[in-house]
Amino acid sequence: MTIATPAPKKRILFVDDEPAILAGLQNLLYKDRRRWEMTFALSGEIALEKLSTQAFDVVVSDMRMPGMDGATLLNRIKEASPSTARIMLSGHAEREAIVRALPALHQLLAKPCDAATLRATIERSLEGEATMHDARVRAVIGKIDKLPSPPQVFERLSAVMSSTDSTIEEIAAVVANDPSLSAKVLQLVNSAYFGSGQRTSSIADAVTLLGTEQLRYIGVTASVFSSLTEDPFPELPLHELQKHAVCTGTLARRLMAGGLAQEAFAGGLLHDVGRVVLAVGFPAEYREIIRSMTTTEADLGALELAAFGATHAEVGACLLGLWGLPAAILDVVRYHDRPGDAPEASWALASAVHVAEALSEGSCGLIDLASVDKARCTHLLEGWRQLAAGSR
Ligand SMILES: [Fe+2]
Ligand SMILES: [Fe+2]
Repeated sequence: MTIATPAPKKRILFVDDEPAILAGLQNLLYKDRRRWEMTFALSGEIALEKLSTQAFDVVVSDMRMPGMDGATLLNRIKEASPSTARIMLSGHAEREAIVRALPALHQLLAKPCDAATLRATIERSLEGEATMHDARVRAVIGKIDKLPSPPQVFERLSAVMSSTDSTIEEIAAVVANDPSLSAKVLQLVNSAYFGSGQRTSSIADAVTLLGTEQLRYIGVTASVFSSLTEDPFPELPLHELQKHAVCTGTLARRLMAGGLAQEAFAGGLLHDVGRVVLAVGFPAEYREIIRSMTTTEADLGALELAAFGATHAEVGACLLGLWGLPAAILDVVRYHDRPGDAPEASWALASAVHVAEALSEGSCGLIDLASVDKARCTHLLEGWRQLAAGSR
């Protein structure tokens, strides 16, 4: 008889200058002690000392602390240990400090935070990371604080944000037209801090919840959006990926009309963000992969697996999980090439995005009939094909 060795415990570091708060966290998460090894530090300096002698999977830090504050601490951890997931707990009147922390944090929670929210946030951060076996890829994902948008999109965003006459609908339309902007806005709004605890997959709702004033402030001061002066990736230009993403999202929303239309749009829009991550993080290697895919017709996923130990679908889901996006979107991104392997609750959604991707402009694959069948969606195919044909 073989006895399975238990998975090593995940290591979580909590940082707060108030002993009572740390004791409270310890109580709150008492039942998680069997799966998580929890360490508590009373200052940023102590936290960094601990990080220099052992690795942590997640750090949860208070913002306001005497000496080194949370923003400085998280920025230091981002440099020293990029693959550690970084969660910030903050009170409400600390916008200036938050702007300094934004490039370094993955999720932002409002204080006081209940056990369920904190637990779910930590779990989400750990989920995708478990499938990333290559430390280089984990470091690249952990370090990314924004994804690039094509220059034309970025210019349009700057124009609507700088004009005082722009309506929230105009800003939302620009954001929804680009996966990188949408991912960032969904990250911000799904944090309990900016979104007041409301989780959403709707990009229009996300922009409305943030509001023009807040978007302008964090967009300009924290420069949470970015553009590229030079495309790192001439074989697969960013504007083509953006167009492909918008077409897939728009068609997926039609296929799921009346159901999970917003999730389908967001999932379709974000399905290939992992490609952008790999292209930005490993430009030379990824260029080679795209080259061999086009010259030998080899399978992109197989080439990515061989080079990075993960596909762009898994890389994208890992990043968006770290950023705290809703589970339905993560499922779609992770399983857009193989919807039949998605959790049952996401079968229809992942199938719709998979089919939309294959039937929309700039398609990068065929419909995997066996996988759609495994997801019990074969009966929907004919209707979806007609909808796709009607939308051209
Ligand atoms: Fe893909
Ligand atoms: Fe795609």
